[in-house]
Amino acid sequence: MNEHISLQQVTLRFETLTVLENIDLSLTKGEFVVLLGPSGCGKSTILNLLAGFTQPQQGRVLCGGEPVRQPHPSRGMIFQQPNLFPWLNVLENVTFGPRLRKHNRAEVDARAREWLARVGLAGFEDHAPWQLSGGMKQRVALARAWLPGPEVLLLDEPFGALDAQTRMMMQELLRAAWLETQTTLLFVTHDVEEALFLADRVLVMSARPGRIVEDIRLPFGRERDIETLASEPHYGDIKHHVLQRVRQEAKRHLAPLNEGER
Ligand SMILES: Nc1ncnc2c1ncn2[C@@H]1O[C@H](COP(=O)(O)OP(=O)(O)O)[C@@H](O)[C@H]1O
Ligand SMILES: [Mg+2]
Repeated sequence: MNEHISLQQVTLRFETLTVLENIDLSLTKGEFVVLLGPSGCGKSTILNLLAGFTQPQQGRVLCGGEPVRQPHPSRGMIFQQPNLFPWLNVLENVTFGPRLRKHNRAEVDARAREWLARVGLAGFEDHAPWQLSGGMKQRVALARAWLPGPEVLLLDEPFGALDAQTRMMMQELLRAAWLETQTTLLFVTHDVEEALFLADRVLVMSARPGRIVEDIRLPFGRERDIETLASEPHYGDIKHHVLQRVRQEAKRHLAPLNEGER
């Protein structure tokens, strides 16, 4: 299969703390992969490596066969907090990056309006961030991330702060956008049900130092209905298995730290 982004035998330490040790991970082009694991196991660190914010001490980080050395607009990132500029309106927030790079303003605005419509924010272009709910702000962040036409999107618990209803709507929105664009997505979450609705493949990480301990391809197909997914054959078994695995690792994480790890 054609590898799009990967970590190869990556080891990353912060001073004496080994966060990732000889980790291998790869996504094919257009794949939607969800990463689950206990807090502190290195999930955000993996996204930061792939984004080009951090470099490993050992191993290789590749995108399209080339080493990742610095951030690039072809690799977008979405965080739990939407991080909008409070003094810019919705449209200006979405177009801020492309404008900086001096693209044609009218064309960028037109594409931004299209993305805003797609995420359900047509008519909100002139609103200020403080006039929006949390879910609406995160929709702005989605439109902003998608506007430059990234090849890869890295999502770090993007819906973690939203209420359950908003969260489901955002999950449906994200899947629809992904089906349309065929972007390669790596999505971090704590929520097993979210993982099972979104992913082609679910990776479970161990407690620190992080390794991939489970790699599960989901059998649910491309067309998924969030309301009926739970009645698919194997859904219950897979959910039980993944939950158990994640809990196991979380318990290991909570075990007292060894000397030298404190
Ligand atoms: N810049 C940093 N300096 C020192 N330690 C860090 C830094 N970033 C993350 N860490 C540590 O690395 C570990 C993994 O962090 P992170 O990747 O954020 O975990 P996760 O996203 O899985 O919760 C944690 O123990 C965290 O405290
Ligand atoms: Mg994190």
